[in-house]
Amino acid sequence: MPIFYTKKDMLAFLDTEGNHNQTLGLVPTMGALHKGHLSLVKKAISENDKVVVSIFVNPTQFDNPEDLDKYPRSLDNDLELLKKLSEEIIVFAPSIADVYDSQVRSKTYEFDGLDKMMEGKYRTGHFEGVGTIVELLLRIVGPDKAYFGEKDFQQLQIIKKLVKTQNLSVEIIGCPIEREPNGLAMSSRNERLSQEVRQKAGFIYETLKTAKVKFGTKSAKNIVYWVVSQFENHEDFKLEYFSISDEETLSPIHKKENNKKYRAFIAVYADDIRLIDNLKLN
Ligand code: PAF
Repeated sequence: MPIFYTKKDMLAFLDTEGNHNQTLGLVPTMGALHKGHLSLVKKAISENDKVVVSIFVNPTQFDNPEDLDKYPRSLDNDLELLKKLSEEIIVFAPSIADVYDSQVRSKTYEFDGLDKMMEGKYRTGHFEGVGTIVELLLRIVGPDKAYFGEKDFQQLQIIKKLVKTQNLSVEIIGCPIEREPNGLAMSSRNERLSQEVRQKAGFIYETLKTAKVKFGTKSAKNIVYWVVSQFENHEDFKLEYFSISDEETLSPIHKKENNKKYRAFIAVYADDIRLIDNLKLN
């Protein structure tokens, strides 16, 4: 399985004769791969001649240095998992210095307010960091298609906006959330939960599913109150936000409109581990 640790080597490989006229898919990841990532890689393999998986824990998208320190890293295991899928996957695992040269900082973007609510409100600068690394990766690899999970639905919408505003010729493909047997959305952070709390965390998805049922008959305000009450004094989980928002603009719903699509978004803390999830409501 070809693995490249520098932009220079990655570019040189992509530029070799045999790679021209072949379709290329990119799956950007921060490693600690799980079934969710692997489902993106499988989809990319089924739709492209060649697939690059990038593994890079991007410092500029972490607003909290402790969160960055504690982010799980498991390159050897990641490579094993990818190898089992296909020896032909191309891995790009650069260092921070190689990616950012001497300036480890984000670019400034205009995302039309998509970055201001939910994750953006609680994680200052997060989406500028995501935008910066995704733009860099797209420019280095130059894929035809790039794959992102819907667990980070806000990120997905922002990347679609980024591609438009930066005139990048790539198709952004959103892929459905993979879940653990109890419904917990798969995430690299789940590894940091104790077995007991991981089991109990199915509660987050259960709450979203009930919110979806209520969405048929109840007002959004009523549902928000109900969700807040579910987490009040909860012994394991602390609610950071719950929002019912328009899928396109991500703005919180005011009044249900028939022609609009809505999604419920949630962020919860289990001790210092932050978990997010979302569910399509209509
Ligand atoms: O979703 C992620 O894992 C990251 O935000 C991404 C897209 C790989 C950028 O670092």
